[in-house]
Amino acid sequence: MARLIIVSNRVPALRGKAQLAGGLAVALKDAIATRDTLWFGWSGKEVKGAASEKPRLRHAGGVTFATIDLTQDQYRGFYVGFSNTMLWPLLHGRVGQAVFHRNELAMYNEVNALYARAAAELIKPSDTVWVHDYQMIPFGQELRELGAKNRMGFFLHIPFPPPFLFDTLPQGNALLRSFVSYDVIGLQTQDDADNLNQCFARAGLKAKAEAFPIGIDPENFAQAAQRAEGTDDQTRLEESLSGRALILGVDRLDYTKGLPERFRGFAQLLKRYPEHCNKVTFLQIAPLSRADVAQYRTLKRELDTLAGRINGEFAQFDYMPLRYMNTAIPRDTLAGFHRRAQVGLVTPLRDGMNLVAKEYVAAQDPEHPGALVLSRFAGAASAMQGAILVNPFDPDEIADALDLALRMSEQDRRARWRTMDQAVRASTAAIWAKSFLKRLES
Ligand code: F6P
Repeated sequence: MARLIIVSNRVPALRGKAQLAGGLAVALKDAIATRDTLWFGWSGKEVKGAASEKPRLRHAGGVTFATIDLTQDQYRGFYVGFSNTMLWPLLHGRVGQAVFHRNELAMYNEVNALYARAAAELIKPSDTVWVHDYQMIPFGQELRELGAKNRMGFFLHIPFPPPFLFDTLPQGNALLRSFVSYDVIGLQTQDDADNLNQCFARAGLKAKAEAFPIGIDPENFAQAAQRAEGTDDQTRLEESLSGRALILGVDRLDYTKGLPERFRGFAQLLKRYPEHCNKVTFLQIAPLSRADVAQYRTLKRELDTLAGRINGEFAQFDYMPLRYMNTAIPRDTLAGFHRRAQVGLVTPLRDGMNLVAKEYVAAQDPEHPGALVLSRFAGAASAMQGAILVNPFDPDEIADALDLALRMSEQDRRARWRTMDQAVRASTAAIWAKSFLKRLES
């Protein structure tokens, strides 16, 4: 079997001695376990002055990691700038939040060329190359220009907007042309693939994007949730709730996740359905991310204020309705929290797939499952027939859905959960990786 080269800007962190942490590492677990793998990407470090173009190698969890540092200018232009202040909002359809600077686009292309030069030193002609996400779109073209003839695939983990929105990107056709270097182009949903294909057609390009919906390892997550029962953290959570129902949200602090609307939705629940006051706690776990991007700092200030206001209005001397935290919680502990939650609240304004929704389902007790309130605009929505689907832009609709979820009979919750659990088990991470690689290598 050909060696696998994974290319992604963020490489997984190490959990414990040899376990790889992070969504992509979990999704690629089976592929990695069965073949020789080299994972190339950014070290996560920005250095003052010049950075070495020679990758640093380390071995962990059966994988060889090759990473390079970025200079501060590269980090600002490539990562903070074009990737996360232009492409990220644009591809999520949030054109109003996107800011374009020519020098940042130039740096984005330059860093992709640098990554390709550094990786080319390590790639053999027989390797299969799989490139991931919006930070790395031109990587394949750069590698081809260095003479690589390898089978090369690209997967976009986030949505792709319709042509009339994509058209707002200056020099967008050059970015579209760089997709053509890949033998297989994968997106999360058929709608996203259709959008990209329409852009290709309008630019006269012969490339074809296909849908490969990503999943989780449901069995593994379900086991983690069961194992969490009786642990210290689970007991602490249980005691702190004093028998109240729990609504749980887990997201990176990101403006695509619809957090202000969600907070307002919870406030509307307490206002319009006062019978839930003092009976339900909403815990939002929102680890900080991309703090060097201005829009993320603005969002943090907005949420800090909103959380204070909501608690000010609805708290009682022994009841804090909204718990909002910016620290991450370990995955296994989180699995237990999902199991305890009567409601999983997942309301992104737009999301490629959203694996938190799938994790919530996998973590439930089949006899006493909770209900999932899910945004219509998450990729996961199309398969989740049993979820209560909402338009995440409307706090009142979120409030109605929460009320419905909290009042739902166990029989209804069980029936809804069964269909969602089947969907989560039918479309796992292992199936995703296997089908993409099969397509790439056939
Ligand atoms: O899935 C989207 C994504 O941007 C990944 O590409 C990335 O690794 C992850 O979210 C976290 O973002 P960041 O690497 O900017 O911290």
